Amino acid sequence: MPHRIGIIGAGGIAQLHAQTAAKVGLEVAAVCDIDEDRAKQLAGQYNGAIATNSHAALLEMSDVSAVAIATPTSTHKPLAIAALQAGKDVLLEKPMAINGGECDEIIDAAQRADRLLQMGFVCRVAPASRAVKRFIDAGRLGRIYHAKATLYRRRGIPGLGRWFTTKRESGGGVLMDLGVHLLDLVLYLTGHPKPTRVCAACTSTFGSPIEKYTYDEMWAGPPNPKGVFDVEDAITALIHFDNGMSLELNTTWAADVPNGIYRDGVLLLGDKGGCFFDLWSNEVILTAQQDGYLVDTKPSLPPGDAWAAAWQRQYEVFAENLDQRKAPEASATDGRAVQRLLDALYRSAESGCEVQLG
Ligand SMILES: NC(=O)c1ccc[n+]([C@@H]2O[C@H](COP(=O)([O-])OP(=O)(O)OC[C@H]3O[C@@H](n4cnc5c(N)ncnc54)[C@H](O)[C@@H]3O)[C@@H](O)[C@H]2O)c1
Repeated sequence: MPHRIGIIGAGGIAQLHAQTAAKVGLEVAAVCDIDEDRAKQLAGQYNGAIATNSHAALLEMSDVSAVAIATPTSTHKPLAIAALQAGKDVLLEKPMAINGGECDEIIDAAQRADRLLQMGFVCRVAPASRAVKRFIDAGRLGRIYHAKATLYRRRGIPGLGRWFTTKRESGGGVLMDLGVHLLDLVLYLTGHPKPTRVCAACTSTFGSPIEKYTYDEMWAGPPNPKGVFDVEDAITALIHFDNGMSLELNTTWAADVPNGIYRDGVLLLGDKGGCFFDLWSNEVILTAQQDGYLVDTKPSLPPGDAWAAAWQRQYEVFAENLDQRKAPEASATDGRAVQRLLDALYRSAESGCEVQLG
């Protein structure tokens, strides 16, 4: 019997959750959204799936054993805790919650309920990330002493004036949305070193006034001119770790970055070799000294849509974990570790000072 899952939240990314869940053989049994029309629209694509605007109603369905939570960040804690207490396993979208304290409460609920909680850190399972992880594990980079993660969107503020740009609902801007993926990815690839001190600068330049923002496309709803924009649209940060590694993070939702000047991706520098990879163009470059020359090699990765492949892998792993009752590698404790780092980066940006971590 396939696992029957419920999707909570039927907005932009929920479509991909439902599609991929079905693709790997999970049965989409129910969809919940406070906007019932959205729930109906998504549920209507899956034979027999029930639509509801009440998460409590979905969680009462005894034949639904797991849920994916794809709602605004401020709802992650209450929904995840309710789902775990109802005995469901959970795939929880990033970021895990608004802050590290909320993550503690979710972890406590997961432990008490003895349920699985997998974080939606989909970038870890992109084909390029998986290849790089294998190279690192095989010792090809040696000791990694520096990482640089970059993702510059020129005009990519999601749902301007809606929940993504309202701090109360999102917890923050581009750092919570894109930075969380990059930080988790680097922490995962480098073996989760402990951050010791951080320094960050956040700016908020393009989202206000909302009606003046020029863009090509927007997801999570069209701009709401009467809405709120009280989060950062750019962050630059430097993080030091207990193993001597440093990490430079640069990410923007919006910036006038000249086209083609910077390449988005992750650079890792080790004492045996370096590596650059771009998650979505499926490219990895490994650099090392060989026979007196500095050699760049480009391993060939499986062709195809890297984004779709990452999602498929994320759901294959979720299905395997459900089958085998296996603790997820993308764990809640990893979710909390990255969240604590986000908290520290915001403290540094607000105070203008370096923040030391215990
Ligand atoms: N993994 C990724 O790459 C990725 C990409 C996009 C979004 N996300 C994450 O997914 C989540 C949702 O983002 P989105 O882009 O789909 O946003 P969205 O605004 O498009 O959709 C959110 C949906 O949740 C519904 N909702 C709000 N509160 C609810 C509640 N209490 N119960 C049920 N439904 C509720 C809204 O009505 C809306 O339909 C966020 O956590 C976001 O960070 C992850």
